[in-house]
Amino acid sequence: MKRILNPSILSADFCKLREQIDIIRGCGIQSLHFDVMDGCFVPEITFGTPVLKSIRDYTDMLIDVHMMVEEPERKIESFRKAGADRITVHAEVCRHLDRVVSQIRELGMKAGVALNPATPLCSLEEILPELDLVLIMTVNPGYGGQKYIPYCAEKVRRLREIADRRNPKLSIQVDGGINRETIRSALEAGADDIVSGSSLFNGDMQKNITDMIKIMEEYR
Ligand code: DX5
Ligand code: ZN
Repeated sequence: MKRILNPSILSADFCKLREQIDIIRGCGIQSLHFDVMDGCFVPEITFGTPVLKSIRDYTDMLIDVHMMVEEPERKIESFRKAGADRITVHAEVCRHLDRVVSQIRELGMKAGVALNPATPLCSLEEILPELDLVLIMTVNPGYGGQKYIPYCAEKVRRLREIADRRNPKLSIQVDGGINRETIRSALEAGADDIVSGSSLFNGDMQKNITDMIKIMEEYR
């Protein structure tokens, strides 16, 4: 299984964003996780298409948009135009999830669906074969720097078992509270796309990233 580390720029120093993207790229990382928050589905507001476009114009890295927004279907096209490569929407806010997933795909992007810690896997039972990625939230969405919720690893494990039968190419992403310790639980459970924010951006970024990559290599 190819595993990737996916830095969440939510924890970036936005006055140094370009420099920090260069460090990430310099470590051989090929994707950036872009957390969009609307102040409704989650309490905070982050950034949107103008910031995405600036990053797109600067780098060819994969831009992985995590939409923590209500009615994401209203925003998907403009995120595509701004340069998103993959969009993940939350199952909790999509009344017509199949339609939203089709919309993302028809615009030429990869499609992901995120589940909050308390949202059961069975809500994806029918649509699983249509997805490129499932994001198992390992914290309640809304803030960086929260504590990993251990029971989510069991959810990843069960999803990997189901995906092996029904969608073997599925990426399983984990997001929230991933650090040098908790990453092991996520990897052992079968996650292959590891989002991490504060643990990578606080302190010596290069060391943080290379340490994390080394741990991931133990699980190859
Ligand atoms: C939280 C966001 C995360 C966040 C993770 O709602 O979806 O992507 O940036 O940050 P850490 O790794 O600090 O928990
Ligand atoms: Zn995220």
